[in-house]
Amino acid sequence: MDIFKFKIDSENFIKEFEKLISETLRGESVLNESMMYSALGGGKRLRPLLMYGMAKTLGVKKEDIMPYALALELIHTYSLIHDDLPSMDDDDVRRGKATNHIVYGEAVAILSGDGLLNKSYEVLFKHILENTNKENVLCAREISKSAGIEGMILGQIYDMENENKEIDMNKLKETHKLKTGKLIKVALTVPMIISKCTVEQSEIINNIGEDLGLMYQIKDDLLDVYGDSEKTGKNIGSDIKKKKATYVSILGKEATESKYNELMYKIEENLNKIEADIFFKILVEKIMKREK
Ligand code: IPE
Ligand code: IPE
Ligand code: MG
Ligand code: MG
Ligand code: MG
Repeated sequence: MDIFKFKIDSENFIKEFEKLISETLRGESVLNESMMYSALGGGKRLRPLLMYGMAKTLGVKKEDIMPYALALELIHTYSLIHDDLPSMDDDDVRRGKATNHIVYGEAVAILSGDGLLNKSYEVLFKHILENTNKENVLCAREISKSAGIEGMILGQIYDMENENKEIDMNKLKETHKLKTGKLIKVALTVPMIISKCTVEQSEIINNIGEDLGLMYQIKDDLLDVYGDSEKTGKNIGSDIKKKKATYVSILGKEATESKYNELMYKIEENLNKIEADIFFKILVEKIMKREK
């Protein structure tokens, strides 16, 4: 597969995926409007694409991962709506548009986040009900754990506690692995569970997931300072304004970039070890070089 084939495959996937989001969220109320406002238009869909790419690597059918990809993206979108709230990061731009609370007000934004989270579990339960087996139950459990109080939500708490403070690198790494890493890692865990792959393969895939998740937030920290808002669709300087602890604020640009490169080489090595599908390899390369 070359870049051209990757482009067609990923674009078709995103088209199908966004149709699914719209079918899942549409309705008459302002709640539907607000959830669709945030969930459609602008997102890179990296977690669903990563799940799709890992499914290809392990010979898992697209239909078998689609409900998980959908649930994960709904959770991710809810986390962004809440992350932008005045009581959290207080941001007014997301995915190149005004943030949800700016358009719909804080109360609707909070409830839209709640709505997306609950809809994601409805999607999961419906799938498990129609396809009852142990692997599917395990996948749903992994998604809820990754999003929950030992995962993304705990990371968001640490992120707020770290504001205005001098923290050490271990604490920052843990924060990043939780707040961002968990939802990225679980995108790989789902196809891994469904495929019933070997323990050796699982170990490598778990490592790739962790490194990719950490790397993703390190790049987010870099882009928050040195990025281009036209590309990222977010305000530049948001972390400095909130006195966030980030890789850039603690290590500086150069050391952050060298940490980033270190992770990149490690991931590439592991991709070769599992003989990753070319779609997945190209996707990871694009994520590594991302400017948005
Ligand atoms: C932004 O996630 C928040 C982080 C976890 C860094 P993405 O960069 O995946 O945002 P979208 O979904 O493409 O908007
Ligand atoms: C996002 O971290 C983590 C989430 C769980 C949403 P950031 O707060 O750095 O993400 P952005 O920069 O607002 O997208
Ligand atoms: Mg935040
Ligand atoms: Mg934020
Ligand atoms: Mg950020």
